[in-house]
Amino acid sequence: MLHLGSSRLWLGVLAVVSGANAIGQSSCVSFSSSASTFSIVSNKKAAPILLSEDEWPGVQRAATDFATDIQRVTGVKPTLSNVTTSSLSASVKSSLPIIVGTLGRSLLIDQVVNNTKLDVSSIEGQWEAFIAKEVADPLPGVKSAYVIVGADKRGTIFALYDHSEQFGVSPWYWWADVPTTTHDELFTTSAGCSHGSPSVKYRGIFLNDEQPALQNWAAEKFTNGTGAPLTGSPFNHFFYTKLFELLLRMKANYLWPAIWSSAFNIDDPENQPLADWWGIVMGTSHQEPMMRGTPIEWNLFGSGPWNYSTNAQNIYNYWVNGTIRAKPYESIFTMGMRGDGDLPLSETTNVDLLEQIVSDQRQILTDVFNGTNITTIPQMWCLYKEVQGYYEDGMRVPDDITLLWTDDNYGNIRRFPLVSERVYYHFDYVGSPRDYKWITSTQISKTYEQMSIAIDRNADRIWILNVGDLKPYEMDTEFFITYGWNASLWNPNNLDSFVTSWAQREFDVNQDTANDISEILANLTRFNARRKPELLNSTSYSLWNYREADIASEAWETLSNASTKIYNTMSSAMQPAFFQLVQHPVQASVTLANMWIAAGINNLRASQARLSTNNYADQVEQLFEQDFDLETEYHSILDGKWDHMMDQTHVMYYYWQQPMTNTMPLISRVQPKKQALPGVMRIAPEGTPAAWPGDNFFQCAAGDNCPPPTMSLDNFTPFGNRFVDVGAGGPLAFTYTISSNVSWLKSSVTKGSISPSNPEERVFFTVDWSQVSGAQLAQVSFNATAKGQPELVQTLGFTANNTVVASGFKGFIEGDGGVSIEAVHASRNTSVDGLTWINLPGIGRTLSGVTPWPRGGADLNFTAGSGPSIEYDFFTFNNNDGNVTVTTYVSPSLNAFDPDRPLGFAVQIDSEAPQSNYFMPLAPPGDEPDAWNEFVSDSIVPTTNNFMAAPGAHTLKIWMIEPTVVVQKIVIDTGGVRPSYLGPPESIRV
Ligand SMILES: *[C@@H]1O[C@H](CO)[C@@H](O)[C@H](O)[C@H]1NC(C)=O
Ligand SMILES: *[C@@H]1O[C@H](CO)[C@@H](O)[C@H](O)[C@H]1NC(C)=O
Repeated sequence: MLHLGSSRLWLGVLAVVSGANAIGQSSCVSFSSSASTFSIVSNKKAAPILLSEDEWPGVQRAATDFATDIQRVTGVKPTLSNVTTSSLSASVKSSLPIIVGTLGRSLLIDQVVNNTKLDVSSIEGQWEAFIAKEVADPLPGVKSAYVIVGADKRGTIFALYDHSEQFGVSPWYWWADVPTTTHDELFTTSAGCSHGSPSVKYRGIFLNDEQPALQNWAAEKFTNGTGAPLTGSPFNHFFYTKLFELLLRMKANYLWPAIWSSAFNIDDPENQPLADWWGIVMGTSHQEPMMRGTPIEWNLFGSGPWNYSTNAQNIYNYWVNGTIRAKPYESIFTMGMRGDGDLPLSETTNVDLLEQIVSDQRQILTDVFNGTNITTIPQMWCLYKEVQGYYEDGMRVPDDITLLWTDDNYGNIRRFPLVSERVYYHFDYVGSPRDYKWITSTQISKTYEQMSIAIDRNADRIWILNVGDLKPYEMDTEFFITYGWNASLWNPNNLDSFVTSWAQREFDVNQDTANDISEILANLTRFNARRKPELLNSTSYSLWNYREADIASEAWETLSNASTKIYNTMSSAMQPAFFQLVQHPVQASVTLANMWIAAGINNLRASQARLSTNNYADQVEQLFEQDFDLETEYHSILDGKWDHMMDQTHVMYYYWQQPMTNTMPLISRVQPKKQALPGVMRIAPEGTPAAWPGDNFFQCAAGDNCPPPTMSLDNFTPFGNRFVDVGAGGPLAFTYTISSNVSWLKSSVTKGSISPSNPEERVFFTVDWSQVSGAQLAQVSFNATAKGQPELVQTLGFTANNTVVASGFKGFIEGDGGVSIEAVHASRNTSVDGLTWINLPGIGRTLSGVTPWPRGGADLNFTAGSGPSIEYDFFTFNNNDGNVTVTTYVSPSLNAFDPDRPLGFAVQIDSEAPQSNYFMPLAPPGDEPDAWNEFVSDSIVPTTNNFMAAPGAHTLKIWMIEPTVVVQKIVIDTGGVRPSYLGPPESIRV
């Protein structure tokens, strides 16, 4: 066996990755020669490629791609020929060729191995393994050759594509128009490269919910306007062979085809034979047993209802035909049955019936594969939704059937096997609480976190990823496949290097730019993952607490500018790829998010009688147009190559299902020609939805005759200041002055002027803390003067509270009514039995998360207060009788182990008793807990505990109880924490 997995080795691999377009590969390509290189192309001459006539056709085909790839890079096309030892021409003998072959499937390569005594023991009999290296005297008269040897068909195919990728041909060269960087010369290292069996045996994707984008696009590009005769589907072999090539270039080997208005075998009879010829293992989705489609194929050819209790014989015969049809090809049979339309079987369905179905399906395999031990035929039973319930109710199927465990549709695996099994994962989804199928919204740190549990639990036989329309998830998909190819290469701390290597391969950029792109994509996916774009609305982010909406909007703008800056420096040849893979997803996401935020600000300003309401209404309208323009730009690049690919609607969901068209968020306008009743000036302090003067529902409980506004600031409030918006209450221009009765309060301006063209200004207040001790109150006065109007005066009370921390204290300090802590910023971390809380960089809504690590081995768990702990020192001033509420923000995660082992952790303050949190409610078998929709929508599970913590220094401890819990953030409410989406910004730490 090869030991690519040792951590020492991957460091070595990564060190050379950047030069050679390799992601998670051992590197064996260079563009200049040395004593230890083998020439692929030099002096405008390419090494000939030799194959054997008896080689797998799929390898023959991939070898032609390999030759074309060499031409893409160098402009020189190598010759390809079938040779035998006795047929070697003089020119071959005098050359230094590349010899390609599969062990036991190539007389040529067997001869070469025999002649050179090449040690193939490391790959022989190993699924999809390969080696490549220079050997001396491979064939009579041939001095030296570079041999590429696969242990089996795909081993050789993957070896070829592995080299192509390192030559500089992206797997996405066609699917995302990634240009190939050219070089005059091309070499491999004499030592070559190699790979053992992949970590996951079957690694693949599922095209699903392919309407509108993928289907409309394919109809335009691969048909002459009409799809397949019986189904109308555009997914014919012209489409699929493009996809097969992409999959193989990524080293995936498995596909579930599009199903909703398609039937793989019916749409084009060449689909299934060609998949096998290419080297792709076909499967069918969790709801399509025995290699036959439902609902489309059943509706065409089945008779009677899709109901095994009343129509068993017809369904049985239907399955027999599917099995006979699939027999010549490499397939994984889906066992079991679901109801029509991906719904559960009928209410009355019971475990006995399902067991009968599986037993009948095994009989079909026995009959059709007469003479074959059916336990050697790949079979899968998908524990999706209710079927998991049957499993938990005790239903069992024969051991050789792979159990496919699924996620919750939102990227959280529902259950991890206790024995080796497999996983179905979503980057795209249709269903409750809401579809997400528009744009990338999954962090690779999250994919890694969940799939590494799968690796840890030996769920490594089948990994299948629901990629929806495929296109918006290019990098995410490749990460999933790459991780399954060699899981040992990746750990929580090197995921960024996947993205930077990917950026360098795709865009031929230097390390600094690759780092910038990595950060752009990390922020893009973080922002889209903390609330899916489809779930955003105008009040998702708080419009008045913690400047949350403003900060979110600024972060989006920063992201937008960073991407545009790189886009503008790129050559016109590179721009289409960067547009598809980075610029469009960024700009489209920024546009959508800022449109919702602008709509929220518009609605709030309207209720505050501010003239600027109308500016935000204009902004929403402009962004709504921009959203369409971006879609149109995507459809028009490269002469419309990707027309329709962004057809997916995404603005304004009315329920879980996609809206039938995009609807602009609701906006308001104030009458711009009419003055607000209380006068020309509006005063809106931060921290409240209310505005003054005049009445406003939010000013006080009564809603009228309320006192003037007040605000307070302490010296440990993270922002260090407060602001007040001074705005127009109508068409009349005015000037204003700001004054106060104390010297310690400073405003960013003391006067200004407001008019319809400058309808509001934001004034910041800071405190000179050297002049304040304890809590002191200032009176601030805003005086407005307008032509023909009496002076308008609005006062505001401003309390400054100078708090004092015990000298020498180190840790977080209460400010603004609470203590907010990013979980990674611990004071201490205590290991127990080799387990430690480690950081998962990049995961989660705000910064990262901490989790007990490693997970593996005996899968230890602990009672509260006995396991590994992570500690946070904090200091409070609160006078809330010492009562504090601790909210621990945990990543959504289901009770994915034994139901008797629900996820848990404990929280403790000082020497009070630790409080255990089993934060995920238990649910009936196969169901999710009631609150699950809320958890996945918010992308967080908040858990609360109450403690006593008198003013002074304290320590909060998080204790491990069960593995895989990810803690992102901790908020200690000392009485002043206010509602927001992400929680207060992190407190000041000394
Ligand atoms: C090698 O032989 C196979 C099988 O006959 C054939 O399909 C293929 O085209 C041949 N390759 C070349 C380069 O002639
Ligand atoms: C392998 O090589 C040996 C000589 O080293 C020879 O006797 C034998 O016939 C060869 N086998 C094959 C299959 O070529």
